[in-house]
Amino acid sequence: MRKQVIAGNWKMNKTHTEAEDFAQTVKNDLPAAEQVESVICAPFPFLQKLVEVTKDTPLEIGAQNMHYEEKGAFTGEVSPVMLKELGVTYVVIGHSERREIFKETDEEVNKKVHAAFEHGLTPIVCVGETLEQREANKTMEHVEGQVKEALEGLNQQQASKVIIAYEPIWAIGTGRTASAEQANEVCTHIRKALQEKYNGDVAEAVRIQYGGSVKPANVDELLSQSDIDGALVGGASLEAASFLKLVEAGK
Ligand code: G3P
Repeated sequence: MRKQVIAGNWKMNKTHTEAEDFAQTVKNDLPAAEQVESVICAPFPFLQKLVEVTKDTPLEIGAQNMHYEEKGAFTGEVSPVMLKELGVTYVVIGHSERREIFKETDEEVNKKVHAAFEHGLTPIVCVGETLEQREANKTMEHVEGQVKEALEGLNQQQASKVIIAYEPIWAIGTGRTASAEQANEVCTHIRKALQEKYNGDVAEAVRIQYGGSVKPANVDELLSQSDIDGALVGGASLEAASFLKLVEAGK
């Protein structure tokens, strides 16, 4: 049985005080990490404080991006070494906003996934189709291609630890959720692709999250699907009460 992983992606939201208040509010009310993994992926300036506040609690802290090099002349970038040193344990890689707005390529995503493993961080790799691709019946082909490129060169042990977040771009921040069946159909396809690329053990081990307008009202149905093992949540992860409900649903 795969353990559900509920991750909040705060994107570029909150002040330092709001971030700390959130962590103080939720930290003692979360289910044990053995039951469900809970993660908050926060902006870089809040990471140190969040790691400090949530020490010895079930809440893990993740970053929303990183560079793949350890150090060097990359103005404005943050390295995996820096994240690791802070006590960060997860990192979102290849979110559609990074791919679309910041022009991140599959090749860069792949380098970042390798760098995450080299430095002991768990990558949450985002994939997903545009509305145009869905309407042209290109969803499976596109998503499968993104998964294969992102994982290229990983060994079986690494591949089985990757978390994949299937986020249809047309469902992000739009209030428009993929139906539970639509979401599961793609997650099942991703698992088949993992079986082809690796083997049944790897395919069974990988957690596949759904992301895109997940909220307390629709989370149960999404998480009850056979190939959905958690959620990557934007808007509904910003409020403590809502985040707690989402994590509770993952138990
Ligand atoms: O990474 C989470 C995300 O892109 C979904 O955002 O606000 O639709 O839950 P939202």
